[in-house]
Formats: sequence, C-alpha cells, structure tokens
Amino acid sequence: MFASKANKLIQRLRSPFKQRRYGGVATGESSPGSGSSRLVLGIETSCDDTGAAVLNETGSILGESLHSQKEVHLRTGGIIPTVAQQLHREHIERVVHEALERSGVDPRQLSAVATTVKPGLALSLGVGLEFSLSFVRRHGMPFIPIHHMEAHALTVRLLQPVPFPFLVLLVSGGHSLLAVARGVDDFLLLGRTLDEAPGDTLDKVARRLSLTKHPLCSVLSGGQAIELLARDGDRLRFPFKTPMGQTYDCSFSFAGLRNQIKMTIEKKEAEEGIKQGTLLSCVNDIAAATQHTVACHLAKRTHRAVLFCKANGLLPSLAPTLVVSGGVASNQYIRKALGVITEATGLRLLCPPAKFCTDNGVMIAWNGVERLKEGKGILPPDADVSYQPKAPLGVDLTSQVKAAAIRVPSIQINIS
Ligand code: KG4
Ligand code: ZN
Repeated sequence: MFASKANKLIQRLRSPFKQRRYGGVATGESSPGSGSSRLVLGIETSCDDTGAAVLNETGSILGESLHSQKEVHLRTGGIIPTVAQQLHREHIERVVHEALERSGVDPRQLSAVATTVKPGLALSLGVGLEFSLSFVRRHGMPFIPIHHMEAHALTVRLLQPVPFPFLVLLVSGGHSLLAVARGVDDFLLLGRTLDEAPGDTLDKVARRLSLTKHPLCSVLSGGQAIELLARDGDRLRFPFKTPMGQTYDCSFSFAGLRNQIKMTIEKKEAEEGIKQGTLLSCVNDIAAATQHTVACHLAKRTHRAVLFCKANGLLPSLAPTLVVSGGVASNQYIRKALGVITEATGLRLLCPPAKFCTDNGVMIAWNGVERLKEGKGILPPDADVSYQPKAPLGVDLTSQVKAAAIRVPSIQINIS
C-alpha cells in the first residue's frame, strides 16, 4: 500500500486522460498526408550519431542524413568523448546540408530547428547546440531544445496513431527506463537503471568476448553481435541469475550480471587454455544466455510497471499500450520476451522498426513538430540555451513504485 502522501501524488497525476489525438494540434485536423506547410529541421548529436532530418507537420520525412561513428568506436573499444566531438564537428555541416538538399527545402522555408540538448555526452551535445544556435540566429527562426529520451519515447507517434497516455520502455546504450508518456512534455518515471544501461552491458560483454574478431560480427555493435550469435547458441548452458529478483520495483541493474558473465568467460578461457582476446568456442552459448537474462530482466520490470499502472489507473482501459524504443529495442528476442508480458497483461505492444529505434535526426525533428503543434518549448533565436549531460525524465514516481512492492506472477520466457 502507498503512504498517503504518495497516494495524493498519484491521484493528482491520474488526472482525466486528455485523449489527445495523434499529431494533437489544437484543431485536431492534422493527420499524416494532410497538407500543412510548417517544416522542422531536427539535429541529433547527443552520442555517436550525427543526424539531421526535415519533416513537415504531418510527419512526412522530406529528407534525412545520418553519419554513424560506430565503426570508429568499435575500433577504439568504446566511445572516446573527444573523438566523438571531433567526428561530429567534421560531419555536422555536411549532414545538415544533405538533409536539406534531399528535402528540397531552403533554410528560409523552415519554421524551426529542433536539436537534442539533453541528456548525452557533453562534448557531443555541444557540437549540435553550437551549430544549431548559429543556424537559427543566421536565419532568424525559432529554436526548440529537445530531450533525447522524450524524442525516443514519442517516435512511435510519427509512424502510427498512439494516443496518450501509454507505457514506454526505453532501452539503449545510455539509458534504461520505464515511464508513462502522458503528453509531449509530460512523463511519469516508474523506473530507471541503477548502474548501466543494457546496451552498454551488451557492448562491454561483446568487447570482453572480442566479438569484432568474429567473422560475422566485425562491423556490428555489441548488441547486434550478441543477437546474431545467440541465434545459434544454447541459452541454458550458462544459467545466469536474473538481476534484482528480491527488489520489488521497476529499477534495472546490469552491472552484477556483467560481472557474472565476466567470471564465466574467465573460467572458460582458463578451461580452454586461451587468453583474453581470443574467441572462445562457446561464444554463441554465452551470447544466448546473456541475451536471455537481459530479456528476462527487462520483461520482469516491465511486467511490474504494467501492474503498477493498472493498479493506479495510469493507462486507459481501451487499448492500453506498451511502446518499446531505443537501440536495444531492435533486438527481436527482447521484443518477443516483452510480447509474452503484453499478451499476459492485455496490452498492445508497439516497437518502431529498428531504423527508428536507434539515434537519428528524424526522431528529433518529429519531437520538434509535436512541440511546435502544441506551442511548447519554442524559443526565440537569440535565447540563451545550454546543454545538459544529465537530465531526468518526467515526474519521479520510483519511490512510489518501490513502496507498492508489487509481486509479479512468474511467467516463463520460452522463446525459440
Ligand atoms: O539508441 P542508440 O542508437 O544510442 C543510444 O545509446 O542512445 O542505441 C545503441 C545501443 C548500443 O549499445 C547497441 O549495442 C544497442 O543499442 N543495440 C542492440 C541491438 N542493436 C543495437 N542491442 C541489442 N540488440 C540489437 N539488435
Ligand atoms: Zn538514443
């Protein structure tokens, strides 16, 4: 049960759903395909992708461009912020120019520029922000600062009608969180990672296994490599413990799991008489067990979040929805594990295609469009804006979720 203060907060937050329609403009007239002339340029540089896109108000992608630094960071064994900054500097002008050129839009035709300003790597965010401010000042147009996680959460609305509120699981290299999306700038945070994000864990495990030396994985991100190898692996060979089994909230933790995996790798290396840096014969099995345990952890916490939302009336009774996004959401095994939960709880599961799950300029432009339509967070070109490497998402309900201590019924995640 909740303490009364917590109860009051939830009551207040449970305000009647303003079933805002997809593309919720004041007139309610806008829908994909209908004509509207406002155009937004979106710019993303929060981590290791330099992205830009031009969208119109109905969500049509008029032009886009993306430069990924993945290969460089794979070679250096992780993101070095100064290297990321330098690469953003080298590519941002070309990427923005390409997006504009492909869209056939002249900068003067834009209604606004939307750019990620939080959270992310300080040095990376700085490049996008500096470029964007000089662009909007040069062209005298409004600037819309974007929260990277809000943009991930709302990308699904670019692709199909998803009314607020909905539950969202965001899992990437930098983030792991569960939230209720109630509006363009209105989120309730139910849980987040206490240490690292699942994509980071998968990247580190892949590095420890030297998967870039695997002939099938040399250009894949850690998560992609683990998903690929897991297909031919036996997940039961290494029974890793699902994290936080005795903590009845929606937080995540992956550092302990990574340690379990590391110890197993060390043991197998000793058994096979090989050194770190050489591929183990059991990489497929380790990948399968890692992926399965990450999936089970995400599924269990998400299950609890669904039950918490249901107990507190935070989701509509008609077509309650779970949206899963972020780079890790492109993992098919993890999607299926979450599908088991949504099926058991009667939710609709929506995952944007992989292209829209990872970082790109489109999701930022779309967030700009949504904000422009609602008139939220639109600044004049001369506004003093700074970036924020750390930025929480929404109203923090994590302690209320913990206090509720909801026991989740056991569900077997058996995915072939
Ligand atoms: O959203 P994203 O492009 O960047 C941020 O972290 O914000 O996500 C990248 C992360 C990386 O950690 C990568 O290993 C992971 O997403 N990832 C995957 C898959 N594809 C990318 N993880 C699991 N399975 C995948 N198929
Ligand atoms: Zn991201």
